[in-house]
Amino acid sequence: MSAQLIDGKKIAAQIHGETAQKVQQLKARGIQPCIVFMRIGDDPASRAYVGMKDKKAHELGIKTDTKIFPAGTTPDTLLAAIRAANADRDVHGILVQAPIPGIPQDLVFGAISPDKDVDGFHPVNFGKLLLGDQSGFRPCTPAGVQELLIRSGIPTKGANAVILGRGNIVGKPMAAILCQKDAAADATVTIVHSRSRNIPAIVRQADIIIAAMGFAEYVKADMVKPGAVVMDVGVNRVEDTASAKGYKLVGDVAFDEVKEIAGHITPNPGGVGPMTIALLMANTVSAAEKQTR
Ligand code: GUN
Repeated sequence: MSAQLIDGKKIAAQIHGETAQKVQQLKARGIQPCIVFMRIGDDPASRAYVGMKDKKAHELGIKTDTKIFPAGTTPDTLLAAIRAANADRDVHGILVQAPIPGIPQDLVFGAISPDKDVDGFHPVNFGKLLLGDQSGFRPCTPAGVQELLIRSGIPTKGANAVILGRGNIVGKPMAAILCQKDAAADATVTIVHSRSRNIPAIVRQADIIIAAMGFAEYVKADMVKPGAVVMDVGVNRVEDTASAKGYKLVGDVAFDEVKEIAGHITPNPGGVGPMTIALLMANTVSAAEKQTR
């Protein structure tokens, strides 16, 4: 293996340490940061993600309240719960876990108060991100990828960054982050997606590859320039008869072959995943600080 591993668990632990200190400072002022999680239906992945976020919040001293809604919940019911959390002065952050079956996502994310939108998906926060206004919240996964680059000492200024995937949760905000006029960004950004032509040739130009299109092991060694930095955001279920569960989770990058070519690579799991939670906790504490100034 030639690539250096980017240890997302270790970097996330550093960030959690910083967040825990800020929680203690708030508590010394009599303030307990609090996040409300909402989850709809019985998607096992959503259950697992919310469970992990809840556990980490408790470890850091952040209060949580998880509201579980059955599949078939009406928009009115969910929006009423969001409005109640918006109005509750003891709640600083609100996260509605996607996917949200049966209810348009923009309706849900647009109903969360921008000040409590620790996911960064409200149009006000998304707009601020595009405009380079640092006062909003940024989506946790792409912000986590940027943090991995910064804390691994990987320069982005003038680098060719190719993002695979144009989703609202990762691809689009990732592009907005990396093209900002900012020492931690300043990259030349390209997005490729399912309608792009000649994807391998474009990806081969990249100094930094961010794979976030949800296609198991799509990025192969022959698409990677020697020495490139490869960040794998994907989480895909593939059949695995050797596993008791009948499936295993793999990323969007064919890790075993790409690690021989890349300069840096995120393991998966243990790369980008832990950073999403780290940035969510940091956003929650930042929300509590801003609301109690
Ligand atoms: N589903 C997948 N990623 C995310 C995320 O970052 N936030 C929320 N709310 N839902 C998700």
